[in-house]
Amino acid sequence: MSNPVIPPLGPFLAAKGIVKSYPMGSGRLEILKGVDLTIEKGEALSIVGSSGAGKSTLLHILGTLDKPTLGKVFHRGVDLTKMSDDQLANHRNATMGFVFQFHHLLAEFTALENVAMPLRIGGTAPLEAMRKAEEKLVGLGLKDRLHHTPSQLSGGEQQRVAIARAIVRGPEILFADEPTGNLDSGNAARIQELFFDLQKSMGLTLVVVTHDTAFASRFPRRLSMRDGQIV
Ligand SMILES: Nc1ncnc2c1ncn2[C@@H]1O[C@H](COP(=O)(O)OP(=O)(O)OP(=O)(O)O)[C@@H](O)[C@H]1O
Ligand SMILES: [Mg+2]
Repeated sequence: MSNPVIPPLGPFLAAKGIVKSYPMGSGRLEILKGVDLTIEKGEALSIVGSSGAGKSTLLHILGTLDKPTLGKVFHRGVDLTKMSDDQLANHRNATMGFVFQFHHLLAEFTALENVAMPLRIGGTAPLEAMRKAEEKLVGLGLKDRLHHTPSQLSGGEQQRVAIARAIVRGPEILFADEPTGNLDSGNAARIQELFFDLQKSMGLTLVVVTHDTAFASRFPRRLSMRDGQIV
C-alpha cells in the first residue's frame, strides 16, 4: 500500500500579486498595485500609511470581506479566492474576527445578545451561546454591562463588546481597522493593551491598521503602505 502524497500546507496566510481596481471613466483606477504578503501564525503586525494608501482595502481582501481583481489569498495553503461565497462565509466566521473603528453592534440587542450572535449563526444552542458570550464579556471586564444596549455603553465599553464579539468563536486571526480611532487616549490605551493581551493568551494572529504611530510601533512587525503598495 503506497502512502498518499500529502501536499505541503503552505504559509499560514499569504496574499500573492493582489491587485484591486475599479472602473473609472474609460479606464480603471488601481487601488492595490500588486501586493505580496506572508503572515505567520501568531504574528502581530501593524499597517500604517496615509489616507487612501489602500490599507482598509488590503485588510478587507486578506479577511475575505472583499475580493481582489487579480491575485490570490491563501490560508494554510487553501486558495480562498476559489471558494464559493457560502464556503467563504463559513471559513471566515470560523477562523477570522474583525474589529472596526465604529463598533457596528446591533442597537436593539444587549451586549450579551450581540456577542452571542456569531455563535448562534454558527449553530451553537441558545443557552450555550449565552454562556460563552457572558464568559467573554466578563473576561473583558464587562460583568456589570451584560444587559446594556450599545447606546447605554461608553465608547470604550462598546469597543470592548465589539472585541468580545470578534473573538467569541475563537478565531485564529483578528483583523482590526483603526480600532482606537474613535476613542479618547485613556480608552485607546486600554483597548491597545487588550489586543496584545488577547494575542498572547489566545495565540491570535493580529493584523491592525492604525494611524496611531505609537500603537503601530509596538508591533513586532510593522508595514507601511503608500499608493497601493507595501513600501
Ligand atoms: N468602491 C470604490 N470605488 C472606487 N474607489 C474606491 C472604492 N473603495 C475605495 N476606493 C479608493 O481606494 C483608495 C484606498 O482606499 P482605502 O479605504 O483602502 O484607504 P485607506 O488606506 O484605508 O485610507 P484611510 O486611512 O483614510 O482609511 C481610496 O483612494 C478610495 O477612494
Ligand atoms: Mg481605511
